Amino acid sequence: MRAVITGTGRYIPPTTVDNHALARIMDTSDEWIQVRTGIVERHYADDDMASSDLAVPAVRDALEAAGIGPEDLDYVIFATMTPDYYFPGSAPPLQEKLGLGDIPCLDIRQQCAGFVYALQLGDALIRSGQYRRVLLVGAEAHVMFMPWSRRTWEVVRDPDAGPLSEDERRKNTETRDRTVLFGDGAGAVVLEASEDDGRGILGHVLHTRGSEARRLWVNGGGSNYRPYFHPDMFARDDHIPIVEGRKVYALAVTHMPEVTLEVLDRHGLTLDDLDLVIMHQANLRINEGVQKRLGLPDEKVFNNIQHYGNTTAGTIPIALHEALEQGRARPGDLVCLVGLGSGLNWGALLCRL
Ligand code: UT7
Repeated sequence: MRAVITGTGRYIPPTTVDNHALARIMDTSDEWIQVRTGIVERHYADDDMASSDLAVPAVRDALEAAGIGPEDLDYVIFATMTPDYYFPGSAPPLQEKLGLGDIPCLDIRQQCAGFVYALQLGDALIRSGQYRRVLLVGAEAHVMFMPWSRRTWEVVRDPDAGPLSEDERRKNTETRDRTVLFGDGAGAVVLEASEDDGRGILGHVLHTRGSEARRLWVNGGGSNYRPYFHPDMFARDDHIPIVEGRKVYALAVTHMPEVTLEVLDRHGLTLDDLDLVIMHQANLRINEGVQKRLGLPDEKVFNNIQHYGNTTAGTIPIALHEALEQGRARPGDLVCLVGLGSGLNWGALLCRL
């Protein structure tokens, strides 16, 4: 029994914010962001949209592509680091919004490696014979983390809103190394059981290293504290993610090529057998570094971070959907999906489309 991807979908919220808009609210520039990250623009969810709201249209498209309805699903795995609620996360609200039956709906918290982990879990559920149609979602509303005032939001959204005070600009500049990187979006994949041995998920390699957890994390809120949220935490900005950018960069350009070779080796395959590699989209320069280390030609790598920034658990399903849409990936192709992020979690997965 194999788990086959039978449908994909993606949703990108309509509000586009380019690098020039960010330069209105902090000391940054289009040139700095593009040179260091490749990002040109990103999209932000509206104020009334949580991660599960972003997921709904992506799921509808994935179901349509698979030719099934919501009632045909028997399991949901929702990968996100920006859940609708501290608990119960995003999968139960998504279930309600889609009008699904009382099927199991699970949140997973593997951040930028979230979708590779979701695919592995979905594959295991199907191969074990326990479930036949699993919906996987990767969706993020990173706007929830942006430490910006109402006035900052006005200026970022509207070029005619006038200048920001120097104080606010200085405050926004303190987190510029993180805020410019992230964008919002959702991707969805339908995985179905199939007896067709020629298609589907071939295998995976996953890793976690908790000793690197504080390279990329949110300190505040959680059972480390009594009470788990407290005004002092907000005063210290402990609710804002901390990113050791240089270190994460180095870990990514080391472990993403390693794990790609590891999964190929495990299945007796080589880089020549691959039609396409889709990496997590954290930084175009990271992906170029990985591509160079592996010696892959441009046609074997798909990137779209330029338009979306880092959508964390959303990057891989959004990129897979677009690669299929643009004919960069075709039915029958062997693709390798590779992710690394907070945890530290990383992994690679091989799939014959
Ligand atoms: O998916 C995993 C999540 N993603 C990550 O963890 C990100 C991985 N890391 C990266 O992508 C890169 O390390 C960054 C893009 C975050 C930073 O690029 P970098 O080349 O490593 O820059 P840097 O941190 O060494 O900073 C260089 C300079 C600093 O100024 P000084 O100290 O040299 O005067 C920063 O303050 O660039 C400054 N800087 C900025 N300048 C303009 C940092 N952020 C900005 C900014 N605009 N947005």
